[in-house]
Amino acid sequence: MRMENYPIFVKLQDQPCLVVGGGEVALRKIRLLQSAGAKITVIAPDICKGITQEFGPNIQHNRKKYEDSDIGNYRLITAATNDVNINAQVSARAQALNIPVNVVDQPELCSFITPSIIDRSPVILAISTGGSAPVLARQLRSKLESLIPAGYGRLALTMRKIRDEVKTRIVDEKSRRLFWEKIVHGPIAEKIFLGQITSAETELQALIDTPNAYIETGAVWLIGAGPGDPDLLTFRALRLMQQADIVLYDRLVSDDVLNLCRRDAERIYVGKKRSDHSLEQTKINQLLVDLAKQGNRVVRLKGGDPFIFGRGGEEIDLLSKSNIPFQVVPGITAASGCATYAGIPLTHRDHAQSCLFVTGHLKDGTVDLDWYQLATPNQTVVIYMGLIGLPIIAKELIKHGVDKNMDIALIEQGTTPQQRVFTGTLNNIVETIERAAVRAPTLIIIGTVVQLRKDLVS
Ligand SMILES: C[S@@+](CC[C@H](N)C(=O)[O-])C[C@H]1O[C@@H](n2cnc3c(N)ncnc32)[C@H](O)[C@@H]1O
Repeated sequence: MRMENYPIFVKLQDQPCLVVGGGEVALRKIRLLQSAGAKITVIAPDICKGITQEFGPNIQHNRKKYEDSDIGNYRLITAATNDVNINAQVSARAQALNIPVNVVDQPELCSFITPSIIDRSPVILAISTGGSAPVLARQLRSKLESLIPAGYGRLALTMRKIRDEVKTRIVDEKSRRLFWEKIVHGPIAEKIFLGQITSAETELQALIDTPNAYIETGAVWLIGAGPGDPDLLTFRALRLMQQADIVLYDRLVSDDVLNLCRRDAERIYVGKKRSDHSLEQTKINQLLVDLAKQGNRVVRLKGGDPFIFGRGGEEIDLLSKSNIPFQVVPGITAASGCATYAGIPLTHRDHAQSCLFVTGHLKDGTVDLDWYQLATPNQTVVIYMGLIGLPIIAKELIKHGVDKNMDIALIEQGTTPQQRVFTGTLNNIVETIERAAVRAPTLIIIGTVVQLRKDLVS
């Protein structure tokens, strides 16, 4: 099929460009031209406040109505007025002089189209629907935005720096391609995305110096999978999950999240229930090291955030001691996800100025917490793993001075379609949840902020 338009990228650094029109639409076009380094002239009787504020002295404003004689030696022209006649006049004149012209929202008057762009300069992606469906282009753009790391430009710049050296040192074309692929898909690129440029450059140099001695070590990515709803994953989490060779996942990682991992990645369940540890923690730590040493990209997927009651610190300790490249990707912790989905702000000017996260895990049949600290007024207390210990928690808080009518919420399977929220007081919550046959995971929130739920749930 014939290609409708011929895509090119135009160098505009210090090039004279004309924008006819001075409103909000013109402002957007000026922004784009400015970011490409163009020298901009605007012709309009008036310009909007935004143009003055953002570009004041950096553009040439000719305060007048457009006339054909205004078109001189310009590299590109944009017509962005709300007068169709002027737009048509600009287009005709520009095209007569063979100057590329774009008329906003009038594709029939354009000799070039401005695409939707994803800017990771020097990497730029442009999407065009030939002016037929800009909304579609924007939708595609937002999908791609989430897949292309913000640091892609840095990666390209780093590759540009060593390009000539690589060409001289690795002469065989196929070996060179493999070399570049190893960088783009491996831990060096991930370092660059994280901004660790010096360390990445050192590794790159070592790789150029001894390409054959390079033994592919894998890497471990410790990823916070959030509390359940897959929409709560970060862009980085999703990107790394889609590169995984092997995924080690916990009990709390939802199927919906797990299904977003690379389809052919091997999955290993290492979850722990209260009394059933399918794999002991030390064995998980060792397994991560062993799998990475075999050259695998290992995703360790953990519920919530790896560093909040997640033993992430222990897992990276052995990785670090074993010189395995690793990265920790934060996730939305249960407190944040569950509170938001239940309509309970964790802090509020009139209710709580601080918030405490604690674990209510039973140890030797009791809960070992600093009850005086928990009983401090004007704060919210969030208790992870507190379901079994709830009767003790409620009793101890009342014993240490908290009002027996203090508000409490228990959120079951928060952020998932099965979410249930139970509210009550310290005095009656145990009875309430006994009747409801609540199942883990659950999160407990104690504090007067719970009262706000009735106004904040839509
Ligand atoms: C071992 S901790 C892990 C916490 C996790 N690292 C985080 O940041 O959320 C497990 C506890 O988190 C809480 N939790 C995790 N996901 C939850 C959810 N979807 N709904 C309610 N509570 C949840 C429960 O209290 C559960 O017992």
